[in-house]
Amino acid sequence: MRELERLLGSDYRPPHAQRSAVARGLPPAAYTSEAFFELECERLFARTWVFAGFVQDVAQTGDVWPTLVAGKPVMLVRSDSHTVRAFHNVCRHRGHLLVDEPCREVRKIVCPYHAWTYALTGDLLRTPNFGGAACAEVSGFERSANGLIEVRCAAWHDWVFVNLSGDAPPLGTHLNGVEARLRGLDWPSLTPVAKLETGVVRSNWKFLIENFVEPYHVPVVHTRTAAGQPLKNHEMFVDTDCFGCIVTVSDPPPHRGLADYLDMSSHYLAVFPNFILARYFPDQIGVHLNQPLGADRTRQWRAIYSTGKVPFDREKTKALIELWRRVHAEDHRATEQLQAGRASPGAADGGVLSPHWEISIAHFHDRVIACLQ
Ligand code: FES
Ligand SMILES: [Fe+2]
Repeated sequence: MRELERLLGSDYRPPHAQRSAVARGLPPAAYTSEAFFELECERLFARTWVFAGFVQDVAQTGDVWPTLVAGKPVMLVRSDSHTVRAFHNVCRHRGHLLVDEPCREVRKIVCPYHAWTYALTGDLLRTPNFGGAACAEVSGFERSANGLIEVRCAAWHDWVFVNLSGDAPPLGTHLNGVEARLRGLDWPSLTPVAKLETGVVRSNWKFLIENFVEPYHVPVVHTRTAAGQPLKNHEMFVDTDCFGCIVTVSDPPPHRGLADYLDMSSHYLAVFPNFILARYFPDQIGVHLNQPLGADRTRQWRAIYSTGKVPFDREKTKALIELWRRVHAEDHRATEQLQAGRASPGAADGGVLSPHWEISIAHFHDRVIACLQ
């Protein structure tokens, strides 16, 4: 608590406890300080369900996908046709990282340092030469007690969540809010169409979430790319676990389907802390994976899905990839400049939040602070 006060200033109050006409944003340290990021890792990311990867990246037995959860290296492993597991991505011998890039259909996980070898279930299988030349055994050393350390992991459709502390409420409870908002979606038709790595953004992870849940910037930042989604058509919502905005476009222009710009009704849904899903009517979904790398860097991916009976053809997929690359580039320019702005004394008070368009950000700040306290 004292550390939090030191970082944010003793007079900082989260939005729900502020008395002014407009709420103030989080102080700059919340975005720039590595100490604040460490607090988030320890008290926020480690204790809840964190969106960590895609089932499509571990689709076949033996697929391994390295990720980061609460700043800790974790790997997602397809152990068999039914099971995706998560393990701390570190060798039990001397702590070398086991996997530093995605692997496909491996039969075992072999440490690149001294070749200790693990099964896809995490069991330690081999410790070559550990007891001397051509002697793997050491009396008193139990292989069975030195397997990979498993962490709690669960999948929902194509999305894998990890809970490091192991004691968060069940994933289903965590996702109740977003499931309710997605009622009527034809889940069996959900088909991955493309996945873009949009790169490392020089921005704190919170700016990427905040930018997604407020439409206020849309007519300014996405002048062309979101030309068919006027600000006046947006409506904000805040449920406890799901927050964001909805845009309704009742008279779409006739060029529909070319994916040249956004002109469809859409639901922008965020689940605290880092799951982002956008539904575009009638038949498209986009999911962002924002992986915090530190206070001022976040790696981001976007997966595109079709949800209709007819999957997208190549031309439409290509057009969508181009559109989404442009949209993400526009957003990244904005979030990187929000980050850069935090160095200015003019941003020391955290700025102010629109009581209309940025209530979703106020809710998000309340959630962040509640976790850290
Ligand atoms: S650190 Fe992995 S085998 Fe030595
Ligand atoms: Fe945007």
